Amino acid sequence: MNAGEAAVALDRVAVTLGERPVLREVSFRLEAEQFCALIGTNGSGKTTLLRAILGFIPVQAGRIDLPAGAIGYVPQKITLDPGLPLRARDVIALGLDGARFGTRLPSKARAVRVQEMLRAVGAEEFAEQRVGTLSGGQQQRVLLAHALVRRPKLLLLDEPLANLDVGSTAEIVALLRRLSHEFGAAVLLSAHDMNPLLPVVDRIVYLANGCAVSGKADEVVRTEVLSRLYGYHVDVLRVHGRVVVIAAGARTESRDALERDPVHTITVP
Ligand SMILES: Nc1ncnc2c1ncn2[C@@H]1O[C@H](COP(=O)(O)OP(=O)(O)OP(=O)(O)O)[C@@H](O)[C@H]1O
Ligand SMILES: [Mg+2]
Repeated sequence: MNAGEAAVALDRVAVTLGERPVLREVSFRLEAEQFCALIGTNGSGKTTLLRAILGFIPVQAGRIDLPAGAIGYVPQKITLDPGLPLRARDVIALGLDGARFGTRLPSKARAVRVQEMLRAVGAEEFAEQRVGTLSGGQQQRVLLAHALVRRPKLLLLDEPLANLDVGSTAEIVALLRRLSHEFGAAVLLSAHDMNPLLPVVDRIVYLANGCAVSGKADEVVRTEVLSRLYGYHVDVLRVHGRVVVIAAGARTESRDALERDPVHTITVP
């Protein structure tokens, strides 16, 4: 791999949790400033993959190459108690303290940086409000600003669209796309619903059966490609510009996962 070009590159990565091989052989590469969706059904290993990239869990095999400097991260399912005595502004400032290297910014510079981020994510009007009392969409903006405040070259977002209504989803997707350009960050964003993302993503990484395929959406979301990935036949149907992935074929563990979350409806851009 040519370091310095890729924002993240995985080469035959394997991760076992307890006795369970969650990722068997995952390889893909994300270039600088690319906007990429990480797609898979519940339990397919999206969170595991993001945590492995962050170095929170060890890999059993393969390698992960990362850019120098900070990585921004918003975990899945953060619960912010309404009584938590932190304003939106404070949460963003805390993002400046996670640096492993370098010196702390002087307080004036910190305040300027926080104000810039409040503006960038459209959170100025609720800057002084306790985070736990904000709506889901407002909290997502604050957490995004928290992750971006150190200007990472790579931003990992675990299901940032979960629990948002249709309007907020569209707003956050548009915001993410704009911010990734503005900050020059590559974004890897997990979701099990591709629908709101396909019009804006450069690539998708589709995770199933412990393996991944990556590429442009219309290269990946195809009957033959996904059937090979799942290890049994799936049908990718296009109806009125939408795509539906339907499980068929042999009973396997990954088929059970697809049956629990049986249909992805997605729009082809
Ligand atoms: N600490 C652990 N020990 C053993 N197995 C685990 C552990 N954490 C997760 N797993 C298992 O690994 C698999 C992948 O989990 P993961 O959370 O990565 O999936 P996911 O794609 O993020 O799912 P979701 O869409 O529900 O968030 C699941 O089967 C899960 O039960
Ligand atoms: Mg997850």
